[in-house]
Amino acid sequence: MNRKFGTNGPLVSSIGLGCMSLSGAYGVADDQESIKVIERALELGHNFLDTADYYRTGHNEELIGKAIKGKRDKAFLSVKTGQMFAPAANKGFGFGPVNAHPDYLKNAILYSLQRLKTDYIDLYTPGRVDPNVPIEDTVGALADMVDKGVIRYIGLSEASASTIRKAATVAPITALQIEYSLWSREIEAEVLPVTRELGIGIVAYSPLSRGFLTGDIKSPEDLKDNRPNMPRFQGENFYKNLELVEQIKILAAQKGCTPTQLALAWVLAQGEHIIAIPGTKRIHKLEENIAAEQVQLTQEDLQSIEAIMPAGIAAGTRYPEFLMKALNG
Ligand SMILES: NC(=O)c1ccc[n+]([C@@H]2O[C@H](COP(=O)([O-])OP(=O)(O)OC[C@H]3O[C@@H](n4cnc5c(N)ncnc54)[C@H](OP(=O)(O)O)[C@@H]3O)[C@@H](O)[C@H]2O)c1
Repeated sequence: MNRKFGTNGPLVSSIGLGCMSLSGAYGVADDQESIKVIERALELGHNFLDTADYYRTGHNEELIGKAIKGKRDKAFLSVKTGQMFAPAANKGFGFGPVNAHPDYLKNAILYSLQRLKTDYIDLYTPGRVDPNVPIEDTVGALADMVDKGVIRYIGLSEASASTIRKAATVAPITALQIEYSLWSREIEAEVLPVTRELGIGIVAYSPLSRGFLTGDIKSPEDLKDNRPNMPRFQGENFYKNLELVEQIKILAAQKGCTPTQLALAWVLAQGEHIIAIPGTKRIHKLEENIAAEQVQLTQEDLQSIEAIMPAGIAAGTRYPEFLMKALNG
């Protein structure tokens, strides 16, 4: 099933593939398996592949470059940029600031094209709004890249309603990538209405709340990655949230689908301009996620979900404090 972004925008799959975890964000990933996951998504007609040049400093783009070889036309490449790194102790890398300066963007894209082995990117998105650069300058640079043919559409990520409005005065904004799930509903107050009004698509990231809503995570000790640094996975919050997941499981069983599918179907039911990009490194999970688009939620289903899962119910913020501060408020 495809959805259209805006009146003149692209047709993209309603369930895309978030590729971040293919570079180790949630446990070790195997490159050969990862390539097969991407190939399978394309084979099933699910063209929207989301990546960033900062997912393991280019590794993620290189994987995608291999997987789309000979089938570039089957993929819709969504690439984020702007999260900088700096060398850290013991040959590690630490997070640096975000950078959405025109010079930075125009330079970064050439590296992305090289790693992806393509000569254009479908949707190019600064991963965060740069507090030191007027959004008009950032979008102006992206518009120039559209004119030069290296990108087709302009995206924003984690932008506030007022930033979106300002950005849209400079050039058409095709999509906003932002966290949206049963547990992260902050965008409903202001951002969703603005995107509807301006014809901007929503790319809902972490639609499974980083795996929590799938019901597969039973204790924080199960996680051998950075999720225990996230407030929802910590201490009492974890166990309060686990109780909510138990209720999602009951609803899903009544509906005859999995909790994962219920969570994805809920996102898709929030608007025709919304797609979800669950991430997975396993083919069977990808197939389960794609099948979620067959789950039709009735008004009654949506009311039952709302009754047990109203906005703001999840315990803990979606990011630790220092990362919450990097969001465009
Ligand atoms: N713009 C931004 O700031 C931003 C931030 C974060 C993420 N993103 C994008 O959004 C994408 C998705 O977000 P996300 O990866 O954070 O979170 P997510 O999609 O909410 O959850 C991913 C987790 O769910 C598990 N999972 C997926 N399908 C499953 C299934 N059918 N059954 C059981 N478990 C399943 C995965 O397991 P496995 O690991 O075993 O596959 C993985 O651990 C990312 O890949 C990235 O492209 C964007």
